Amino acid sequence: MFIDPFGRAVTYLRISLTDRCNLRCVYCMPKEGLQWQPRADQLSVEEIARVVETAAQGGVKRIRLTGGEPLVHPHIVEIVRRIASIQNIEEVSLTTNAMLLERLAQPLASAGLKRVNISLDSLDRDKFRRITRGGEIDRVWRGIAAAERAHLAPLKLNTVIVRGLNADELPALTRLTIENDWHVRFIELMPIGNAQDWGEGFPAPDERYVPVQEMRSQLSMFNLQPENAPIGNGPARTFRIPGAPGTVGFISPLGEHFCQNCNRLRLTSDGKLRSCLVVPNEVSLRGALQSGKPLEEFFRQAITQKPEHHNMLAATPADSQRGMSQIGG
Ligand code: GTP
Ligand code: 5AD
Ligand code: SF4
Repeated sequence: MFIDPFGRAVTYLRISLTDRCNLRCVYCMPKEGLQWQPRADQLSVEEIARVVETAAQGGVKRIRLTGGEPLVHPHIVEIVRRIASIQNIEEVSLTTNAMLLERLAQPLASAGLKRVNISLDSLDRDKFRRITRGGEIDRVWRGIAAAERAHLAPLKLNTVIVRGLNADELPALTRLTIENDWHVRFIELMPIGNAQDWGEGFPAPDERYVPVQEMRSQLSMFNLQPENAPIGNGPARTFRIPGAPGTVGFISPLGEHFCQNCNRLRLTSDGKLRSCLVVPNEVSLRGALQSGKPLEEFFRQAITQKPEHHNMLAATPADSQRGMSQIGG
């Protein structure tokens, strides 16, 4: 079993399949994009499978595929098929912006994908396009419908709340859970990614952050009741409007850090194990993958480096040394 120095069992691996993305969300990337990793540095399907086999032997049961945008990876269906068949892996899921989901939902489900978390930062078509710098909300809706048809469930939606941008949509997004059995999660803006000026018409850096306490108080009219979290073991605190089929979650990495229950390890698309989203400790698997050496000791090394907690309130993007799209959230 992989147990870290603070007694936490590592049972969940987030794999960033690529740092590339077909959107440029303002809080994540500058509009010209980032310097992409050379494709030659990306792990192959076979290498990813080897990493997951070692993870599974150490007690990892859940795999979440992230990016950048995981659906732009040319071999995404094959990757899902390959890792879903690995012994002891109970669940493969994926976090996506849904631009390519309509076509891929069914093939991914057939390959063994269990569920998807979808980013949705606004319900307003124009605002959605502005936040994502070019995203089409109708494609997200078609992606969601395709995910439901393919029984990718429970479906979770991720909204990063930003003051002066989409914080006014908290009630409308919450209301989605009255009509649908979706799990809407409101996320505090983390200082990882694009903390610079976002350009004209966007709030200034020191105006953007909204703590979850404030989000909750803006939703007091819904009488939200605490609820057990849907499947996922993730960082959200979950609530429900009485009688609603869906739930509302709050992810508060700054206000209420959840590090004491952290069960996760991350793999970057260039083959580094990373033990925390915020702290830049990484262990490269590249050499071992190329030489065919066993990977277990590298996992143990990465887990030994897992910090007890981070201090995201004091963090700046420079501290994590990679952007959100290079770590996978
Ligand atoms: P499941 O519980 O498996 O459904 O996933 P999740 O909610 O952990 O994953 P998702 O990729 O949808 O991430 C939702 C938000 O939580 C994103 O903003 C992530 O960056 C954030 N997040 C995920 N894991 C961590 C973590 O370990 N630490 C912090 N601070 N944030 C995290
Ligand atoms: N703060 C909080 N969440 C973020 N995400 C991307 N960048 C940030 C940030 N700076 C979210 C995306 C996606 C998930 C993987 O991470 O919206 O839903
Ligand atoms: Fe792409 Fe996700 Fe970053 Fe948006 S937040 S640019 S969808 S990686």
